[in-house]
Amino acid sequence: MTSLTLDTPALAQQYDEISDPQYEHGQFLLQALSLKAGDQLLDIGAGTGRLSELAARHHVGPHGQVTALEPLPLRVEIARKRASANHTAEVGQGEDLSRYADGQFDAVILNSVYHWLPDKARVLAEAFRVLKPGGRIGISSAARERPHDIQQIISRALGQNGLGRGHAIGSTPYKVSFAELAKQLEHAGFLVDEIRIRRFADRFPNTQAALDFSAASSFGNFLNEFLPDVRSSLLADIHHALAQYRQADGSLLLYRNLLFAVGKKPNA
Ligand SMILES: C[S@@+](CC[C@H](N)C(=O)[O-])C[C@H]1O[C@@H](n2cnc3c(N)ncnc32)[C@H](O)[C@@H]1O
Repeated sequence: MTSLTLDTPALAQQYDEISDPQYEHGQFLLQALSLKAGDQLLDIGAGTGRLSELAARHHVGPHGQVTALEPLPLRVEIARKRASANHTAEVGQGEDLSRYADGQFDAVILNSVYHWLPDKARVLAEAFRVLKPGGRIGISSAARERPHDIQQIISRALGQNGLGRGHAIGSTPYKVSFAELAKQLEHAGFLVDEIRIRRFADRFPNTQAALDFSAASSFGNFLNEFLPDVRSSLLADIHHALAQYRQADGSLLLYRNLLFAVGKKPNA
């Protein structure tokens, strides 16, 4: 079970500094949403607000509005430093959008958030409610059928330590497959415009940087369920396995695979 109470100022700050992968693939989602001047965008699980700031500056124009909603107060604190006349940041979860009116938004985005949500039906129902007829939803999520390299490494380390794969908290615990995502969107009432899996190459200067990225992206949940000696053993195995991804220049090259989906609320 993911906890939303384990974040620290250091992890939040680190996420802000090393979340280029999420920031970069988030831009594909923003483009797929075809935002226009004057649009109202809700960014669910906005983290430290980097993507919502970009949307406010370059996608919705001065008369549009971007609302960054994020459950971790330390990350909202950072997002608020990015706030502007057309960009606000608020503490809250995707499961409860009751502060927003029916049909308030032209678009909703969840970038690298969906795989953290245990109750997807509830979040999708809320997103559907707050969208205008014809409004769009954009989701990027870890794909169950094509785990990231780091997730495969963690799974192997768990096996080597006699632990079940179900333990792998920190490596996106609520992943969905292509087919599940399509079904969930349709069940919530969306027309599915597009779903595809994209592959991304990430470079890290060393093995610690790759682990720091996983830890900051997991807001304190990374291997958190293990006692210290088990955790140390797992980390040692993961470091060792990561070293095998080292390139000639010393950096690590790891691949991530993400589902990208765009859906539309039918016109009334
Ligand atoms: C990997 S970060 C992505 C942040 C941001 N969307 C980005 O592109 O950088 C995942 C985010 O999902 C948020 N999250 C986790 N559970 C959530 C929930 N139930 N509702 C909304 N956001 C949630 C976390 O707090 C975290 O900030």
